Amino acid sequence: MNYVREQYRTSSGTGFQGFLDEIKVVLLEGQMALFVRGWAMLSHGSLAAVDCFDVSTDSLLGSVTEFFPRSDLPPGAMAFEARLPLSADNSHNYFDYGLLTRADDGRLFPIFHHSPENIQIELDGRCNLACVMCPQAFGVHSGPLSIDDLETLRPVIERSECVEINHQGEALLSPILLQLLQMVPPHKHIAFNCNGTALKAKVARQLLEYAPPVRSISISIDAGTEESFYKIRGTSLSKIMENARAFKKARDEAGLTFPQLTLTCTVISDFMEFVPDIVGLAAELDKSFRYWPLTGSGLHGGA
Ligand SMILES: C[S@@+](CC[C@H](N)C(=O)[O-])C[C@H]1O[C@@H](n2cnc3c(N)ncnc32)[C@H](O)[C@@H]1O
Repeated sequence: MNYVREQYRTSSGTGFQGFLDEIKVVLLEGQMALFVRGWAMLSHGSLAAVDCFDVSTDSLLGSVTEFFPRSDLPPGAMAFEARLPLSADNSHNYFDYGLLTRADDGRLFPIFHHSPENIQIELDGRCNLACVMCPQAFGVHSGPLSIDDLETLRPVIERSECVEINHQGEALLSPILLQLLQMVPPHKHIAFNCNGTALKAKVARQLLEYAPPVRSISISIDAGTEESFYKIRGTSLSKIMENARAFKKARDEAGLTFPQLTLTCTVISDFMEFVPDIVGLAAELDKSFRYWPLTGSGLHGGA
């Protein structure tokens, strides 16, 4: 998988918009073919091709080089549609194929479904924090997935375009994190929320080694000052931000744009005044911030 992974590692998300509308294996004049349909738009430069990779054989299946306007697309966007013949060696599973849009100057951009097939799994229900508002603190708890569990889930994981690996536990503490990273090919998307305490050392290196498929990491920061943060999460905000900044630095130095870092805030009324501080922290990373209220989010029935 090194060839395809290297292609994806050099790809970037910025300056591109586009989606895959359809991908399926079809019969074309007695021969199997991969049918792909979608659209792409660059903020600058022009489209050269959409390269289609067979990750099962770690090879380029073919490139789509013809683009045409379509009335339902944003201004400047171009559509593509093609049937790429498959050999007997190629995979006949549509989910084994990944597409990268190529600009005429060589820049590459991954292209995904608008509504991807997702799977959300709890890699490890355990957490190293016991935040006052979290069901973890008052007893709701589930254990780790085993390698056997992961193998049972393999067919579903292989079909999914996006794999989210946490719900309430801390996925970065899972003893099978590496196996999961190895199971998901580079044309897929791994996303998770974590508390940032373990986003360092060996785990951070593994996440960068498997980026892609690791594309989105959210860190939950629910209070914006050291004191308020400690009160609800029982750990140090500055240490977590140290991890996040070091992770971003290592990613940037490796020339990678993925994984993108988001700060997620569960807004607690007592700490609402500190939300601007958290937005300021997000601005230091990838300028991505999201929030929801503690009450009403319905998360794990704990609130
Ligand atoms: C439960 S944690 C799970 C991920 C990770 N282990 C962590 O510590 O952030 C995910 C987010 O849910 C929020 N949260 C915790 N308890 C909650 C509750 N009872 N209702 C809504 N959100 C909650 C946390 O503040 C955190 O931002």
